[in-house]
Amino acid sequence: MTEVSSPVHFSEQMLETVDRLIAKYEKPECALLPILHLAQDQFGHLSPPVLNYVASLLKMPPGKVFDVVSFYTMFKTRDMGKWCLQICHNVTCTMMGAERLVHAAVESLGVGVNGVTEDKQFSLVTVECLGSCDKAPVMQVNNEFVERALDAEKVKNLIKDLREKGQTTFEEVTR
Ligand code: FES
Repeated sequence: MTEVSSPVHFSEQMLETVDRLIAKYEKPECALLPILHLAQDQFGHLSPPVLNYVASLLKMPPGKVFDVVSFYTMFKTRDMGKWCLQICHNVTCTMMGAERLVHAAVESLGVGVNGVTEDKQFSLVTVECLGSCDKAPVMQVNNEFVERALDAEKVKNLIKDLREKGQTTFEEVTR
């Protein structure tokens, strides 16, 4: 079983999954993305010790792992809320009203961009193009996209629903 010395550790069961993933590929580093997802699930976010741990497991230079993580918006490198709201503020989304979505989220959450609510339920960030420009403006909540005629009121409703019901109601909100 893969194991290395580190201040953070996967559970034994996770390490078995790591081994299975590594065995699927010709080179261990090809398993990087799925293993980063596992690490994010287990540790909540990908802190420097977690990234060093993943690099050791895959026998990769830590810098390469940090580069990959900084490229993808789905990876969290700091403590975030249970619901991570990512609003695209690239050109197309900005032209289609992304700023209004940001203001609505700031108003509803009571925190600014890059903030985390006191109850740790929500965090808000702005991100570069989410690759769904034809449906701009676009927001991503954890791994789900919220798009199609998204406006400030829908953002407020979604936050209210997540707060009250503790579950996603994307279709209702974006209908
Ligand atoms: S500019 Fe927002 S998804 Fe591309």
